[in-house]
Amino acid sequence: MVEKNLDFRSDTVTLPTPEMREAMAKAELGDDVYGEDPTVNKLEKLAARMLGKEAALLVTSGTQGNLVSVLAHTMRGDEIILEAESHIYLNEVGGYAVIGGLTARPVRGEMGWMRPEDIEAAIRPPNIHYPRTGLICVENTHNRAGGIPLTPEQLEADWEVAKRHGLPVHMDGARIFNAAVALRVDVKELARYADSVMFCLSKGLCAPVGSLVVGSEEFIERARKYRKMLGGGMRQAGIIAAPGIIALTKMVDRLEEDHENAKLLAEGLRDLGIKILHPVMTNMVYIDVSPLGWTGEDWRKACEQLGWKSFGWPHSPIVRLVTHYGIEREDIESFLDGLRRLVPKRV
Ligand SMILES: Cc1ncc(COP(=O)(O)O)c(C=O)c1O
Repeated sequence: MVEKNLDFRSDTVTLPTPEMREAMAKAELGDDVYGEDPTVNKLEKLAARMLGKEAALLVTSGTQGNLVSVLAHTMRGDEIILEAESHIYLNEVGGYAVIGGLTARPVRGEMGWMRPEDIEAAIRPPNIHYPRTGLICVENTHNRAGGIPLTPEQLEADWEVAKRHGLPVHMDGARIFNAAVALRVDVKELARYADSVMFCLSKGLCAPVGSLVVGSEEFIERARKYRKMLGGGMRQAGIIAAPGIIALTKMVDRLEEDHENAKLLAEGLRDLGIKILHPVMTNMVYIDVSPLGWTGEDWRKACEQLGWKSFGWPHSPIVRLVTHYGIEREDIESFLDGLRRLVPKRV
């Protein structure tokens, strides 16, 4: 029986499964700063193998994983190219600037994908006035674009431009497994178009803590040093790695269920007159409740009445809903039934 978790705010609210909790209790441990935690070593090997890279590094969070990757690819004073609505640019406290001494060159994407010609136009030619372009970052799935998975073809086109200019590519793949499942491709087919990939264990995959960075041996060695600098060198981190192993071996295929539930939710909401803002391709549904005459806060309160948590602010009618482990088809159906009674009747 899956423990209910009626919360649309994010897939980060997922709780570890009973099997994960048991694995944490029994994990074989050592000091990971000395490279001696067997469970961390096992997880890192597994992650590298699954993504088709030489090595991997367990980090505390997606934000830390992106930051150590950006630092390991660049030099102080470089400019990085990233999508204008990307998480690294908007939601990681400007770490690339504060800690990396980097500037950002945002490029507006189409459904999260930066067109190769737009990337190329943003790459700096040699000129005494310009910073050096040091890195291109892509995001897959793209969160603010609506949980949109970027295809191998799109990624290859961006990669090709990067390589023509001798630039590394970092992928913020916080939800790369959602992308792989939605596109029905091996995750390696997405990871191959990036020199480094960060992905999260603690979102749809349900582990309580942790993300991984994967890349070449040499890159991971540099990233490991930056992780230590940022205070991310953990000791008996096998406690975290143990549920991470279950996340990667048992929780990937079920993401399909979350995607199906997101589609079901979107269809039901559309039938009630709510606007769906993006194609629903993974586990996210962005809605606009203004056709009901509601604000986001009205939405949040309606959800609360039905026993659900959701974001929803007074100043905006736009809300992001995320499906995940702990929300099942029948929960979506009964949520929609309840909502039908609360929304204003359409004329
Ligand atoms: C696309 C993306 N990248 C990175 C992160 C950062 O992950 P964390 O919250 O573990 O720092 C998130 C978090 O929601 C995200 O959505």
